[in-house]
Amino acid sequence: MEKLTGLKKIKTAIFISGTGSNLNNIIKFSKQKKSPISIDLIVSNTLDAKGLKYAEQFHIKKKIFNFKNDEKKILLSLKKEKIKFICLAGFMKILSKEFIKKFNKKIINIHPSLLPKYKGLNTHSRAIKNKDKLTGCTVHYVTASLDSGKIILQKKVKIAAKDNLTSLAKKVLTLEHKLYPAAIMKIFN
Ligand code: GRF
Repeated sequence: MEKLTGLKKIKTAIFISGTGSNLNNIIKFSKQKKSPISIDLIVSNTLDAKGLKYAEQFHIKKKIFNFKNDEKKILLSLKKEKIKFICLAGFMKILSKEFIKKFNKKIINIHPSLLPKYKGLNTHSRAIKNKDKLTGCTVHYVTASLDSGKIILQKKVKIAAKDNLTSLAKKVLTLEHKLYPAAIMKIFN
């Protein structure tokens, strides 16, 4: 990935579908001097995404697309805002091959499991059901194959005997908030 030159931060869009705790966390990280990225656009596939409130809170532009027939419009928006990098954070749509190609190696995602284990949904219930002793989260590049792109960083956490779906999801999310900024730092430094 290109090295940072001077003080210019890389214009980044974050794609969300839900609560946006990673979004909130990455925005806060992006405001630190050391951050290589600035968050210039928030994209959601639904008006209901709670995370959209951070657009107002932090005065960041937001766009809502249904993602079925909207890719041309999305690309136009990204171009207009000079977006060079995309972070998926709890984004529940699958991007088309064509879209991914246009942002080749410039889209990353966070996934709540130790990939390649548990690609797709319901990662925590699968880990509990299989009586795994460890779980974690992974930041990886987005490719046309779901949750299969090159791993950038991964962090592990123990699953305690008393853990349930809620406690495990909370544990992993806390870890995600450390991992995502660290992965961004790793890419650009
Ligand atoms: C996170 O666990 C992320 O790994 C998964 O969806 C969740 C999104 O959480 N893909 P939030 O919207 O960032 O709070």
